[in-house]
Amino acid sequence: MIKLHPPKLSNKTIKNVNKVLRSNWLSTSGKNISRLEVKLSKIHNVKYCCATINGTSALDLAIKSIKTDDNEEIITTGLSWISTVNALLYNNISPIFLNVSKDLNLNLDDLEKFIQNETYVKNKTLFNKKTNKKIIAVLFVNLYGKTLDIHRIKKIIKASKAKVYLIEDAAESLGAKYSGTKKTAGSLADISCLSFNANKIITSSCGGALLTNDTKIYKFSSHKANQCKKKNFYNDGVGYNYKITNLNATILLSELQYLNKKIKKKKNIIEKYSTFFKKNEKVKLLNYDKDGTNNWLINVKIVSKKKITKKIISYLEKNNIEARPIFIPFTELKYLKKYQKYRTKNLKNIVENCISLPSGTELKTKEIKKVSNSIINFVNEKIKN
Ligand SMILES: Cc1ncc(COP(=O)(O)O)c(C=O)c1O
Repeated sequence: MIKLHPPKLSNKTIKNVNKVLRSNWLSTSGKNISRLEVKLSKIHNVKYCCATINGTSALDLAIKSIKTDDNEEIITTGLSWISTVNALLYNNISPIFLNVSKDLNLNLDDLEKFIQNETYVKNKTLFNKKTNKKIIAVLFVNLYGKTLDIHRIKKIIKASKAKVYLIEDAAESLGAKYSGTKKTAGSLADISCLSFNANKIITSSCGGALLTNDTKIYKFSSHKANQCKKKNFYNDGVGYNYKITNLNATILLSELQYLNKKIKKKKNIIEKYSTFFKKNEKVKLLNYDKDGTNNWLINVKIVSKKKITKKIISYLEKNNIEARPIFIPFTELKYLKKYQKYRTKNLKNIVENCISLPSGTELKTKEIKKVSNSIINFVNEKIKN
């Protein structure tokens, strides 16, 4: 089976894990945790890093660190992995869902329109005209590893003349560059969150991190993540068991050495897919970017009047190829229906007939060819419009 995105750990990492297993430093203390935090700060050129047990807990800490009461709102995308929105709901923050562009990322024209037309500012605070609630942040996602034009987002927020935090869910974009820049994703928002879940470009089986230049946010987050521990057996608030373990930190530290190599491989893979699909008008590569600003899952949209997602996935499965549909938009999930949506009418259509293709760093050229040919065969045989 050609898998979607299998993890690949190096032999050196396995040796390092053996060493740490023998050392017995397996819990949330151990030197590799702070080493990892220094390394992630350096990679992203930010002052602080709090390494967490997963990306979801990093997002939860990000929201906890900026909320001031329960009646607040955050503008976010209508399409992402579920953790993005759940982090808001854990904190009684209401999401305002915006539409996505063709590349599946937050639509920045809509962000601009929403802030210009649907909000007002009082005492440098942004309020939602519809609910009169405070909007404390914009939470954007580098979905499927594809980055956005961060400078444009910052400009839009600045133009509002209100204090609005910029939070980046960079769970899927480790090592990518912001669109149109040479800056590493995760480095320019007020708070950025990473994930090292098993299907990501670099994994420690589970793991995450919160990145920031803000001393207050960092101190708050690392204290909360460490059970609000003041000193041994003395805790001064409701804390969380959110720190990464020394075992996971060891895996990550070792694997991060291969990040640049893996990014190069990714670039190669997406370029090959692009060449194979070049002449086919019914297969559109969604998050292809010559600058290499996407580095996780490679997606295509099949141009068809009919809904063919299930059919193509099972066709590929019969050919021993694992593919999967795009996330279901938040606006389609029952438990999220009550939250405000803005211009999201065609979100379902944007996502329709989009699938994620095998994109792992170890993918061979002949495998990319097989996947591409299978898709082209499906399109030629089954799509008549
Ligand atoms: C966009 C996005 N946000 C957040 C997360 C949460 O990360 P974790 O699974 O490490 O909790 C993930 C993925 O796994 C993700 O893809």
